[in-house]
Amino acid sequence: MPVRRRKHVLVTAGPTREHVDPVRYLTNESSGRMGFELAAAAARAGHRVTLIAGPVHLPTPRGVTRIDVVSARDMLRSTRRAFRGVDALFMCAAVADWRPLRKRAGKWRKENELQEVAKIELRRNPDILATLARRKGQRLVVGFALETGAGEARARAKLRRKNADFVVLNDERALGAMRTSIVLLGRDGSRQEFLGRTKRAVAEMLVRLVPQK
Ligand code: C5P
Repeated sequence: MPVRRRKHVLVTAGPTREHVDPVRYLTNESSGRMGFELAAAAARAGHRVTLIAGPVHLPTPRGVTRIDVVSARDMLRSTRRAFRGVDALFMCAAVADWRPLRKRAGKWRKENELQEVAKIELRRNPDILATLARRKGQRLVVGFALETGAGEARARAKLRRKNADFVVLNDERALGAMRTSIVLLGRDGSRQEFLGRTKRAVAEMLVRLVPQK
């Protein structure tokens, strides 16, 4: 059902890719499906939607403006620019925490045929959510936390540290799957569980967090 008020919703999705050299990179298992479902659900609800996507193999949902990015720093740049004009940010992307300290200009080669060990030095990537939510004003900011095991305390700490309004806690079984179980934690201490739902159903529920004022 279309919403009463059309808002501008920004969604990030997928992994980021952190290059070691022109042909090799570090990344993670994120499929981007949750973020794409969110963007699709927001568009179906009648919102204007911008989707910032890391490298994924998914078609752009109908009615969504998509911006493709590669690395965490690309994603920060595009998300920061888009965040200025939106009412809500859903930070679904699995941003790589680390990137190689330097990207080699040419292909990384073995030093010699006897070499058995090599090292990649890593540098911390910027935290996009924490950086943008610091000055979020009235905008709704929703983060995601993938935690293995009992991660609720960690997710709640993240919610506070990153200044989000909500954090969606899920676990590694959600990766690439059609169904997911989540706990929605609110800044006001609220807690709601949704078990074994389709990502589409979870997306529709999350879109209803967008303020209708
Ligand atoms: O700290 P952690 O990576 O578990 O936090 C997850 C949340 O923070 C997600 O919403 C993710 O999109 C966001 N994040 C980010 N920038 C990073 C790392 C995570 O925006 N460098």
